[in-house]
Amino acid sequence: MATASEIAAVGVIGAGQMGSGITQLAAAAGCAVLLLDADPTALSRAVASISASLRRLAAKGQLSQAACEDSIKRIRCVSTVQDLRDADLVIEAIVENEDVKKKLFVELDKITKPSAILASNTSSISITRLGSATKRPSQVIGMHFFNPPPIMKLIEIIRGADTSDEVFAAVKSFSERLGKTVICSQDYPGFIVNRILLPMINEAFWALYTGVATKEDIDTGMKLGTNHPMGPLQLADFIGLDVCLSVLRVLHNGLGDNKYSPCPLLVQYSEVRNTWLLTPEIIAVYS
Ligand code: 3HC
Repeated sequence: MATASEIAAVGVIGAGQMGSGITQLAAAAGCAVLLLDADPTALSRAVASISASLRRLAAKGQLSQAACEDSIKRIRCVSTVQDLRDADLVIEAIVENEDVKKKLFVELDKITKPSAILASNTSSISITRLGSATKRPSQVIGMHFFNPPPIMKLIEIIRGADTSDEVFAAVKSFSERLGKTVICSQDYPGFIVNRILLPMINEAFWALYTGVATKEDIDTGMKLGTNHPMGPLQLADFIGLDVCLSVLRVLHNGLGDNKYSPCPLLVQYSEVRNTWLLTPEIIAVYS
């Protein structure tokens, strides 16, 4: 199994916001990155946004022009799991659905080299259960990045019941190589950050739902009253209401406490209206 300094080739699955940010970080740290997505439009959008982001860093003098262009060249877009056969580390950042992730892990287990580490950027799904879908549970680990990954300074590492000490040590030093601070969580629903963050966001929805205050006052209250960079409702939009709902359901089912039960307003916005934006018009309809 590769140690952190031997991780030379990284596979990233999912060219959304998280996958793009992770790709940028790994390429800037000197890795060859294979970015996998079945949707060619998502891949070209990701490469355009990564290139723009790296060039912005170069323009600000935080990266040399040569390092910026070399990082962009290290990224290769691929469209099948088979293309990841030579990766030392694969990080998946696909949809937050346990069955879909398990199927992907079964595939990855079959095609990646025996020494490869398989990591999930899941927000809340059990790493032990994802690992048990493979024949290498000791090499399966949670590597939870925060949005936007190039800016947020944290990686939360989650050890499954079977994750080995060697794999934990390799992923911890690799995360530090990406310039991040690492915290380690045991494999409980929501891990550390989302276990605490999502109940706060849910409570903000309850405050709006029960007419405590306007969306603007709830967000301003938390921004200026507790120095958060974004209010909880704006942050929920930023994370994605579908992701917020899915994490709350994992907390509710896994911890069996009604305090995690998602506010009906969040369910309405996310599922019934199928909208991700708390526009004044939508709030007027539901509050
Ligand atoms: N990618 C790269 N760089 C970005 C970026 C992105 N997506 N968004 C902003 N930036 C950069 C800007 O270029 C700017 O850089 P500069 O200061 O060197 O010019 C810097 O970040 C600040 O950006 P802005 O001035 O445009 O905006 P803000 O000062 O409002 O910062 C923010 C934007 C960093 C997103 C800030 O609002 C913030 O920290 N918000 C909270 C984010 C947060 O809590 N994320 C975690 C969510 S939970 C999660 O992800 C876990 C999941 O499992 C649910």
